[in-house]
Amino acid sequence: MTERDQTTGENTAAARRTMTRTTMTRTTMTRTTALVTGATAGIGHEFATQLAARGHDLVLVARDTARLEETAGRLRAAYGIGVEVLAADLSDRAQTEVVAARLAEVHRPVDLLINNAGFGLNARFLDVDVAAEEESLDVMCRAVLVLTHAAARAMVSRGSGRIINISSVASFIAASPYSAAKAWVTVFTESLAHQLAGTGVSATVVCPGFVRTEFHQRAEMDTRSLPKPLWLSASDVVREALADAERGVVVSIPSRRYRAVVMLLRVLPRAVARDPRVVSRHRRT
Ligand SMILES: NC(=O)c1ccc[n+]([C@@H]2O[C@H](COP(=O)([O-])OP(=O)(O)OC[C@H]3O[C@@H](n4cnc5c(N)ncnc54)[C@H](OP(=O)(O)O)[C@@H]3O)[C@@H](O)[C@H]2O)c1
Repeated sequence: MTERDQTTGENTAAARRTMTRTTMTRTTMTRTTALVTGATAGIGHEFATQLAARGHDLVLVARDTARLEETAGRLRAAYGIGVEVLAADLSDRAQTEVVAARLAEVHRPVDLLINNAGFGLNARFLDVDVAAEEESLDVMCRAVLVLTHAAARAMVSRGSGRIINISSVASFIAASPYSAAKAWVTVFTESLAHQLAGTGVSATVVCPGFVRTEFHQRAEMDTRSLPKPLWLSASDVVREALADAERGVVVSIPSRRYRAVVMLLRVLPRAVARDPRVVSRHRRT
């Protein structure tokens, strides 16, 4: 090797060492960002908290601005992460578009999308104003579709990302328009996972049973008769959901007891999913 070559070789090695250091520093310093809808209460708030504890920066979406700011302030102070607040009513197409635009941003990538916002209606289909049913479809289906589309396109172009959609065990029974909406979320996410195979982006649908949150209280549902073993904590649900998503599980059903319930529902005749003894328990909540 000539002196010039040696020098070049040394320089190249030095450059390589510097590059490796720079890359490592950059990798260590790179903070991933998660966008969570319905992040101010219940399951969404728990996702935000557990992701903050893991060092993710956050974009929090919900309608109540004061509550969003309060949640953001608490998470910044507790975990030293960056938190953006995006107030949006996901039943409104234009406001949903603002969240979609945030997901599509090239220079501030969102690495993890959690479509969680949702609500229940405590009334039989014919007794409720159809506008309320439309609103629930807008939040739990249309917004999920629009936000997933924006996020998935951006993530696929970067070759990495994760989408988690919150459905329900109710998606496996025929209890109400709510269970039909959640069935859409489950099947949509399964089909998405198939389409995303090999892109570096994953999709997971989470199907919890009864979870102690504000959900039932907001819908004025009386849950006093529900046996204790049917209840899950939001922290357990989110811990299992994140672990499943990391392992590339497509349909995540938190807890052994609800996995057993779903397994049974899948093998029993479909009429069981419509049986009033199965369905009414869900409607009462
Ligand atoms: N709790 C259960 O037993 C259970 C079981 C299975 C599945 N799930 C599903 O889990 C998800 C979360 O429910 P949760 O139990 O955590 O409910 P929750 O405690 O009532 O929290 C709902 C969250 O969604 C937000 N939200 C509601 N409507 C919205 C809208 N139009 N636009 C934007 N944000 C909206 C709320 O904030 P703002 O009011 O400020 O907008 C709140 O942050 C839902 O999709 C639900 O269907 C719940």
